[in-house]
Amino acid sequence: MAFCCQSPIKTITFPQSKSLSKPQKPLFVCNLSLPSRYPVISTEPEPVYASVKAFAPATVANLGPGFDFLGCAVDGVGDFVSLSVDPQVHPGEISISDISGDSAKKLSKNPLWNCAGIAAIEVMKMLGVRSVGLSLALEKGLPLGSGLGSSAASAAAAAVAVNEIFGGKLGVEELVLAGLKSEEKVSGYHADNVAPAIMGGFVLIRNYEPLELIRLSFPNEKELFFVLASPEFEAPTKKMRAALPAEIGMPHHVWNCSQAGALVASVLQGDLVGLGKALSSDKIVEPRRAPLIPGMEAVKKAAIEAGAFGCTISGAGPTAVAVTDDEEKGREIGERMINAFLKEGNLKAVASVQRLDRAGARLIGSIPR
Ligand code: HSE
Repeated sequence: MAFCCQSPIKTITFPQSKSLSKPQKPLFVCNLSLPSRYPVISTEPEPVYASVKAFAPATVANLGPGFDFLGCAVDGVGDFVSLSVDPQVHPGEISISDISGDSAKKLSKNPLWNCAGIAAIEVMKMLGVRSVGLSLALEKGLPLGSGLGSSAASAAAAAVAVNEIFGGKLGVEELVLAGLKSEEKVSGYHADNVAPAIMGGFVLIRNYEPLELIRLSFPNEKELFFVLASPEFEAPTKKMRAALPAEIGMPHHVWNCSQAGALVASVLQGDLVGLGKALSSDKIVEPRRAPLIPGMEAVKKAAIEAGAFGCTISGAGPTAVAVTDDEEKGREIGERMINAFLKEGNLKAVASVQRLDRAGARLIGSIPR
């Protein structure tokens, strides 16, 4: 396969990187500052499947002090994208045939205004698809504006589906860039949901220009449970970002940086107590957002009192996330968080206990041509 280097993308290798369909090799890249952001594949790829189905997991962004640069994927919930080669669709274009799930009615079927559609179009552009039309169906497993990376999950599943239907020619960095295009349009330019949704596990976004992603390996043998308490309340990411300070003082900068460093160390060491402590520590973003989510401060207190190692807002909220090493204890913590949302915030909430999703977005079905 020939690649035309037109991009300043810096590709770094991931020693434990997951390949989506073949061993992960860095694409041929260079640092010429030419207009296109992407390596463009000069030979148009043929579809290798008639249809595919992809899944992408929910994600917890920020993880307390890691605003816009730390996130992780959680198992059990996410979005699905089914994609087919469709002769009825104009070559080089994509059509959204169906959107299902609780939030379906709120989403546009115009691919230019749909997270899955935007990411799918980006991947088609990167691959140079001109002769094949695609039809996409989106199944929303995640509610919108919940703080669980709903838009990123749709974008990640769509990006992976398009890449895989054409034989998996792009690597994770390109797929994250496609997802970022979608995030930029719907919620803001941040990769702390879409990178872990695609890569799985914990991810550090070291740089955006050029994109540099670092996978943080949490030890396999350690148990880690996320307690996710989601109230009936919408917290649109754009609005929650508008609440943030434009500038911060040096003491808060030093504090949050040290806590984010401690969080990274705790993830790598599998130190749950350290991870929880760092998760709870944000002095910049959480203090501005928590008052906008009724009951959030009491929910955090309740989670810690119930034995959680730490608790914060998941992404832009309103979901609260706590961590523990025991599933049963996680359920008790979840009950206490639900009660606090009701008592202090007058909000009904649901809670679930989930493990880390280590795999990220993946194909779950395919029909060969
Ligand atoms: N880092 C983003 C934010 C995540 O907090 O605005 C949104 O899910």
